[in-house]
Amino acid sequence: IQAEALEKVEQAKNPKELQEIRVTYLGKKGSLTKVLKGMGKLSKEERPVVGQIANVVRDAIAKALDDKSEMLEQIALEKQLESEAIDVTLPGRPVNVGGPHLLTSIVEEIEDLFIGMGYEVREGPEVETDYYNFEALNLPKNHPARDMQDTFYITNELLMRTHTSPVQARTMQEYKGEKPFKMICPGKVYRRDTDDATHSHQFTQIEGLYVDKNVRMSDLKGTLDKFAKKMFGEEREIRLRPSFFPFTEPSVEMDISCKVCQGAGCSVCKGTGWIEILGGGMVHPKVLSMAGYNPEVYSGFAFGMGPERIAMLKYGVNDIRGFYLNDKRFLKQYHKA
Ligand code: PHE
Repeated sequence: IQAEALEKVEQAKNPKELQEIRVTYLGKKGSLTKVLKGMGKLSKEERPVVGQIANVVRDAIAKALDDKSEMLEQIALEKQLESEAIDVTLPGRPVNVGGPHLLTSIVEEIEDLFIGMGYEVREGPEVETDYYNFEALNLPKNHPARDMQDTFYITNELLMRTHTSPVQARTMQEYKGEKPFKMICPGKVYRRDTDDATHSHQFTQIEGLYVDKNVRMSDLKGTLDKFAKKMFGEEREIRLRPSFFPFTEPSVEMDISCKVCQGAGCSVCKGTGWIEILGGGMVHPKVLSMAGYNPEVYSGFAFGMGPERIAMLKYGVNDIRGFYLNDKRFLKQYHKA
């Protein structure tokens, strides 16, 4: 029996076959069990001898079964490890990572430039009161210049800010008419416009405000010149044209020389060689005094620029809607590696 059983164990290929062998020899009706059950018929002298042999055989078979089963498990494990092995030398699959939106990058670049000139970065609410958006900026109710900015009103007193200039008044109030400061404020603004290649009902602005004793127009010009050259290259020139804003006096608009294209066919600068990127001027004395600064002692300059325009000029983007449609094919071109 032992020889036969061991031979079978030797040849068994899987746990199921081992189990069958176990039943055949050691099970309740197994051949070895039969031998043990038949012991009663043996003589007193034969019983211990046969019993001992039977026990040895049973132990041998059981051990062979256990060893084989362990071996099969080991083989199965090795196979599994082999099939699940990872080849660490294979090149990895590319992970689809995002990147900052072009506008975000431009705004951060502009922030860095002004931080380098001593400006702090501030923020203000997009849902603004009529007071800060207009009145504190010398635009009383029914002032015709309010028409310059088509406004989304929420209630009579609440509106979506049409520019970042309300943050001028908020900042001056916070500094209580005493502290000189330089700040910029990037943010979203809203106007009732029909969206097309150059208009969007929501766009971004970066406000700048410098209040101190003896701030002059030449400081504004110098600051903007430095900004333009850092942003677009040393060969760029700026041009200030007289303009009008109720909250600055005198007021200017700034053009920057356009190198993207020149001549009659150029859509970016319309053939003029210049493109307008911001409005600014000397803070109106009324705006200073309404926010608590004495205009006899303090003066200031302010400007508001459009990062979309700056991005369009810098990267030759010719449709403002590119910034807002979130077409990944457009956005990906501007992800820095
Ligand atoms: N707020 C003005 C606009 O949106 C720009 C501006 C800002 C002009 C600051 C003067 C000073 O058109």
